[in-house]
Amino acid sequence: MDVIIEKARPEDAGDLIAFLNTIGAETDNLTYGGEGLPISQEKEAEIIREKNESPRNALFVAKKGGKIIGNASIEAFSRRMAHRAELGIAVVRAEWGQGTGGRLLERVIEHAKAQKIEIIELEVRGDNERAIRLYQKYGFVKIGAYPKFFKMEDNTYADFDLMNLYL
Ligand SMILES: CC(C)(COP(=O)(O)OP(=O)(O)OC[C@H]1O[C@@H](n2cnc3c(N)ncnc32)[C@H](O)[C@@H]1OP(=O)(O)O)[C@@H](O)C(=O)NCCC(=O)NCCS
Repeated sequence: MDVIIEKARPEDAGDLIAFLNTIGAETDNLTYGGEGLPISQEKEAEIIREKNESPRNALFVAKKGGKIIGNASIEAFSRRMAHRAELGIAVVRAEWGQGTGGRLLERVIEHAKAQKIEIIELEVRGDNERAIRLYQKYGFVKIGAYPKFFKMEDNTYADFDLMNLYL
């Protein structure tokens, strides 16, 4: 089945929340876990609408058979940081390793270039080899490390790498 990448639409809100809750439960790489995000469908639809109205930001979704299996968001900063934007990306575990992450990343980079964004930045768990490999493949470089970036539910910490793509 083909995977299509497109901008999220407000009517995707319900499916997007279900997707976000799924990915939270599947890894320890995100800011939340299996409890999911406390967000209503109305609020999610509003976030999508706002993203679509602000040309510098974007939320892309990967859909397979109409169902969301991945997402990538880019959010630009303002004023003296307006040349920078933050990336977030995830794919459901069942679809890993099939190129969807790469395709989402390509769309984000294309969007950032069109918006004259100069730096795409992200934070990634230092042990998230798959994501780091993906970012390196597209030219991201490690610019630093952030010890104790996450404090997990069991009181252990996770260190993160800071990575930038200079466009
Ligand atoms: C990181 C993530 C988005 C990658 O998505 P994906 O759809 O698997 O990505 P792709 O299929 O495009 O793979 C991209 C690259 O991953 C790397 N990769 C694939 N399998 C790997 C493995 N077993 N070990 C290490 N790296 C691997 C390769 O470099 C691959 O490129 P290739 O196709 O040239 O081999 C996905 O694993 C994910 O959502 N993880 C959980 C959430 C997360 O960690 N998000 C990032 C937070 S910073």
